[in-house]
Amino acid sequence: MSEFSKQLTKDLAWSFWFTLPIYPFSQRQTIRTEVVSGTVWTFDQLQGIFYVVVPIRMSVIKLNEGGLLIYAPVAPTPECIRLVKELVKEHGEVKYIILPTSSGLEHKVFVGPFARYFRHAQIFVAPKQWSFPLNLPLSWLGLPSDRTQVLPEDSSKTPFAQEFDYAILGAFELGLGKFAEVAFFHKQSRTLLLTDTIVSVPAEPPAIIQLDPYPLLFHAKDKATDVVADTYANRCKGWQRITLFALYFGPSALEVPKLQELLSNALKASDRTKKAYFGLFPFQWQPNWQRSFEVLRDRQLFVAPVLQTLILNRAPTETIAWADIVASWNFERIIPCHFDAPIAAQPQQFRQAFAFLEQPVITTNSLPEIDLELLKNLELGLQKTRILKPAANKQ
Ligand SMILES: [Fe+2]
Repeated sequence: MSEFSKQLTKDLAWSFWFTLPIYPFSQRQTIRTEVVSGTVWTFDQLQGIFYVVVPIRMSVIKLNEGGLLIYAPVAPTPECIRLVKELVKEHGEVKYIILPTSSGLEHKVFVGPFARYFRHAQIFVAPKQWSFPLNLPLSWLGLPSDRTQVLPEDSSKTPFAQEFDYAILGAFELGLGKFAEVAFFHKQSRTLLLTDTIVSVPAEPPAIIQLDPYPLLFHAKDKATDVVADTYANRCKGWQRITLFALYFGPSALEVPKLQELLSNALKASDRTKKAYFGLFPFQWQPNWQRSFEVLRDRQLFVAPVLQTLILNRAPTETIAWADIVASWNFERIIPCHFDAPIAAQPQQFRQAFAFLEQPVITTNSLPEIDLELLKNLELGLQKTRILKPAANKQ
């Protein structure tokens, strides 16, 4: 295998830790929401596997001098581009496009195709996109090399420095690949833009997921033979289970039925179409499953479990230093790329979400060990096979 293919394989494998954009296949809808009047907008789409669907989001900020800055572009569907062009008509050209992660393939894949619609935009990317020299991977990603550059370490050296500050977490090597995320702070609207580090879970399914409730009702079933009515309660039930599955992969309250049971239930299922995975329903929730969801709801905002167990605990010192810089900005809302947004939050709440990296651990804010079990076993397995380097000691 050539070095290039090896790197490519690695990068695709890396993306597996997040959800690959398989569902909703070619039909991706977009919801634009004005978060701060005439200044900040979010564009939500959705993505998922096996109907475990979560929002994926880009943010658009109006610049004082006129024009727009776009953070983490989503799929440039005709609908999405039309919604952006409506803002362009009113506020001026897309001047800057930011790719704020080096690891989240679900964000990387859209930057090149998106940028083709806005030919005057300069593109700024998080460092260490690939291990290769810059020009090769960026062009492979479809990024136009004549207008793409890596975000400088010093945030004052960009043309948008008057209006934005940013802080780069990483890039650090995990063995499996590199991780980097860039937090952007829009000073005037006091808005913090993040990619994957922080999430907040809403009790109700986000609007983008309610456009087609099929995935919600699919997960509201208790067994394959159930026929679930489209009610508000069932939509919420499905959403809460999707959340647990997306964040923990295997929360403690979820069991996988035995193969024989799985197949015999599939044969009895009322819907055995391809859309319903031929009646296969490999989920068996324990009666107390909702408690795991309530724990997440109580947290308001937290670091996604996969980042807690597999990624940020490899670099606690760097992560805390980054969180301290971000917490020094006086933001009043956070817009992450997944789950709920905007989150009304003070810098102190953001900083508190990283307490799991410090000694002694502040237990009241920690996620339950029992729900993290599957991820921790995965961590041990990856460490044993040397795919993932061992976690560093806490600060
Ligand atoms: Fe992501």
